[in-house]
Amino acid sequence: MESGKLAIIGGGKLGSALAEGMIRAGLIAEYRIHITRRNAELLKPLADKGLITGSDNIAAVKDASIVFLAVKPWQVEEVLGSLVDSLAPSAVIISLAAGVSLKKLQEASGDRFTVFRAIPNTAVAVCESVTAVCSVNASEGDIKLVGSLFSGLGIVEFIPEDKINAATVLASCGTAFALRYIRAAVEAGVEIGLSPETAVNMVAQTVKGAARLLLDGDAHPEAEIDKVTTPGGVTIAGLNAMEHAGFSSSIIKGINAAFRKTENK
Ligand SMILES: NC(=O)c1ccc[n+]([C@@H]2O[C@H](COP(=O)([O-])OP(=O)(O)OC[C@H]3O[C@@H](n4cnc5c(N)ncnc54)[C@H](OP(=O)(O)O)[C@@H]3O)[C@@H](O)[C@H]2O)c1
Repeated sequence: MESGKLAIIGGGKLGSALAEGMIRAGLIAEYRIHITRRNAELLKPLADKGLITGSDNIAAVKDASIVFLAVKPWQVEEVLGSLVDSLAPSAVIISLAAGVSLKKLQEASGDRFTVFRAIPNTAVAVCESVTAVCSVNASEGDIKLVGSLFSGLGIVEFIPEDKINAATVLASCGTAFALRYIRAAVEAGVEIGLSPETAVNMVAQTVKGAARLLLDGDAHPEAEIDKVTTPGGVTIAGLNAMEHAGFSSSIIKGINAAFRKTENK
């Protein structure tokens, strides 16, 4: 088997973001990366950056040590079933599809391969994903390999499969939720006199900085909020007006609604 080949089946939004992240993380020096979609012309930007592109899934998985499945959830079992006879016996399969269980993946792969589910978010393109990962019967070596691959693309959380829907809501849908906060703050910033470009930079960097305070330390969000909030001051006036308009409760409600949707409730 040729060493160091990765295959991404389904070069859409997430598959392409994953490929971009792999390029940025320098994995292209370590692995040959082959990405497919049926309309392979759309992969030209990735071909220009040195990836092997095409629409032949069988050629992509041949000799690949890791195969990422990034097609739509309802396509995963059929696509995986069409590939199993072409996979190297030691190939590791990583499904990125929301809602497709490890049991279904094992069945579709004829119970012959190590199977992982991984839920990155689109920030994987800039190596800032949080990727939730679960597996069944994976060896320590495979867990280490998958963990180190995704930790080069952000941070990794290994979690039980029954928490993967919660992780999907917080970390994948969460990208949209966070961007909606940013969009609202930018609109307000323009209303109070900043240019849209300046407002985007200020809000995006402020959110990034707030996140770093938590990620680089072990502070609670409220402890960091306290540092900015002078009694009788400007910040508390803003925070309380937001809370009167339902800020925290709307976020909790939105996250619960998204979670119920993942559970089909
Ligand atoms: N977007 C996210 O934030 C996110 C986060 C976590 C997980 N996911 C999961 O990631 C998966 C992909 O989502 P997405 O948002 O990236 O969807 P998407 O943009 O529609 O990408 C799916 C891609 O699969 C390709 N495809 C379809 N059939 C194929 C086949 N037989 N062989 C090879 N490629 C094929 C499609 O391209 P052609 O039509 O050209 O074939 C399409 O580009 C989903 O299962 C989703 O649950 C997404």
